[in-house]
Amino acid sequence: MQILVTGGAGYIGAHTVVALLQAGHAVHVVDNLSNSHASAIERIAEIAHVRPAFTQADVRDTQAMTALLQQDATDAVIHFAGLKAVGESVQRPLAYYDNNVAGSFSLLKAMQAAQVRTLVFSSSATVYGPLAPVPYQETMPLGVASNPYGTSKIMVEQCLADLCASDTRWSVAALRYFNPIGAHPSGLIGEDPQGIPNNLLPFITQVAVGRRAQLSIFGGDYDTPDGTCLRDYLHVMDLAQGHLAALNALSLTGEANALHGRGLQAWNLGTGKGTSVLEMVRTFERINGMTIPYAIAPRREGDLPAFWADASLAAQQLGWHAQLGLEEMVRDAWHWQSRNPQGYGKPETSLR
Ligand code: NAD
Ligand code: WQD
Repeated sequence: MQILVTGGAGYIGAHTVVALLQAGHAVHVVDNLSNSHASAIERIAEIAHVRPAFTQADVRDTQAMTALLQQDATDAVIHFAGLKAVGESVQRPLAYYDNNVAGSFSLLKAMQAAQVRTLVFSSSATVYGPLAPVPYQETMPLGVASNPYGTSKIMVEQCLADLCASDTRWSVAALRYFNPIGAHPSGLIGEDPQGIPNNLLPFITQVAVGRRAQLSIFGGDYDTPDGTCLRDYLHVMDLAQGHLAALNALSLTGEANALHGRGLQAWNLGTGKGTSVLEMVRTFERINGMTIPYAIAPRREGDLPAFWADASLAAQQLGWHAQLGLEEMVRDAWHWQSRNPQGYGKPETSLR
């Protein structure tokens, strides 16, 4: 199929584009490079031995999106483009609503104009809100987020649900990612946060490579087995495969697609297992043969003690489940960081 991938130069997008190309799909990446580098496209090509088409553009440019969809005779869209830093969203709510909500609306209008009605949307476990019982299940109602980032995901999911209810020709999947981590085993693509990493594993790998002095563990007194928070960490390679599985399910036609015409479909993409911060640190040290200096710091505002996915629906309906474990996640994350101490845009080092 011909797939338009918005945000395809980013962390999850790049890994998914590799998987799409390796599955034989034709891919056109659209990215404004606000949080990524064009070099990611070259590295995708090096891994997949096929170079995706690439256009530097903004999803908020509805005319440009419409033209791309029409010229390519696009079959489906995977929409990664957006801003994703929770803390930043509190400081810059308008930027987040403009990028994530208005940007999604712009893309949907372009899809409607080009009569492309198959979409996989990057959603997040954050849509369940802080009060949902664990493990999170897709049948639970959308929650109330405590930050503009989470609210932007809830708003787009609500819009998609209304759109699908209004016109059964739309086939839309909202994939609710839990905590994606790791990197492609080649070490050529990976997570490259700008500035100080918000997320746990990128911070650990930057400590390991000498860019940060030590890890601050936000809270050691939670009501969890070791006092640190539990999360459902998922290898980004598994996450990429989840997108292909969702695309396949949406693209089945007629009787073959039991989901067709049933409105917006949401699937959790997680392992169904909670891992603590200390378990992450210990596993990283053991697998990569090093010590990560850390100190227990005060709790981070907004953090939940523990949540993970009920991942059974994706297994039942998509035939997808996570294959890779925490050891592969920390191994591959370090392989990427050790080859790219400064991330993209800087020469690789001989450090392997
Ligand atoms: P990322 O920042 O690495 O990738 C996003 C990409 O979108 C970047 O390449 C950026 O340049 C591009 N972009 C941003 N705004 C754009 C715009 N207006 N027009 C065109 N391109 C634009 O982030 P990621 O971790 O790959 O996340 C991808 C998607 O998955 C996001 O929607 C994010 O909210 C969602 N998500 C991420 C996580 C996570 O932990 N990484 C978890 C749940 C959901
Ligand atoms: C994981 C655990 C921290 C950094 C976030 C977003 C969520 C989604 C995924 C977009 C927590 C602890 C972290 C550090 C630490 N993104 N930690 N020291 O908060 O579960 O989810 O990323 O959709 O929306 O909220 O992930 O990696 O930030 O934190 O102790 O330097 O690691 O307190 O317990 P989180 P995270």
